[in-house]
Amino acid sequence: MDMTMDVLFLVLLVIFEGGYTTLPPYIKPCKMYDDACSLKSGQDAIPTLLKGDEKYHLPSLMPLKLPKIEVESGPNFKLTMTDIIVNGLDTMELVDYTHHRDELAFTMHLKSKRLEVLGNYEINGKLLMMPIEGSGPINVTVENSDFVYTFHIELYDRDGETYFNILPNDELTSSSEHAYFHMENLFNGNKELADNMNKFLNENSKEVFAELGSSIRSTMRKAIRDVATIFSKTFPYKDYFAE
Ligand SMILES: *[C@@H]1O[C@H](CO)[C@@H](O)[C@H](O)[C@H]1NC(C)=O
Repeated sequence: MDMTMDVLFLVLLVIFEGGYTTLPPYIKPCKMYDDACSLKSGQDAIPTLLKGDEKYHLPSLMPLKLPKIEVESGPNFKLTMTDIIVNGLDTMELVDYTHHRDELAFTMHLKSKRLEVLGNYEINGKLLMMPIEGSGPINVTVENSDFVYTFHIELYDRDGETYFNILPNDELTSSSEHAYFHMENLFNGNKELADNMNKFLNENSKEVFAELGSSIRSTMRKAIRDVATIFSKTFPYKDYFAE
């Protein structure tokens, strides 16, 4: 095939295949188990991925918009957040990456400087033994957070190619240096009760996260798996690795 044919062939591929027959150029494949290369590749790709890419059906994650999060802790506590906006994903940095030897398992360590979660809340029940209820705007801001995400994949065949799926037994741990809470209009706008409760939550933010953390993390795990699935069902497993 001469040069002209090559170019024509590529243009036709792009037109007929919708332009995503290969990984986006900002995802650089690395050799399997070359974790240093994958770490660099991930660090380089994250800023572009966050901006979104219509061509690959990737939504912009700046800000990240979530319709609803439901946090339940035991039979006596329920928090529903709606119309959620998460600001600050651009402060997220991949600091470590491990592909576990001889296992279809991976660990990523991310840090974020400041994440601001805004939306509307409805809360009812007991939190750290304190009765709490109300609804209105909410602001949860966390600073200097660490996230460690470990996941296993399974391989499956489709149309003669091997693809991967992230299994639902993934794990996420998180910790933050500072957390701020503000719920407007707690206790139907009773200012004294509301001020006391907001003060109490901020003074006990570590305990609040310990109590609510597991359902928040399971929502985050689902969001990560959903974004990863856009890629995993589009590109064969081997495309993610250089020869
Ligand atoms: C949310 O709370 C943080 C910490 O108190 C504050 O800096 C930020 O301005 C608040 N955001 C909004 C939109 O009110």
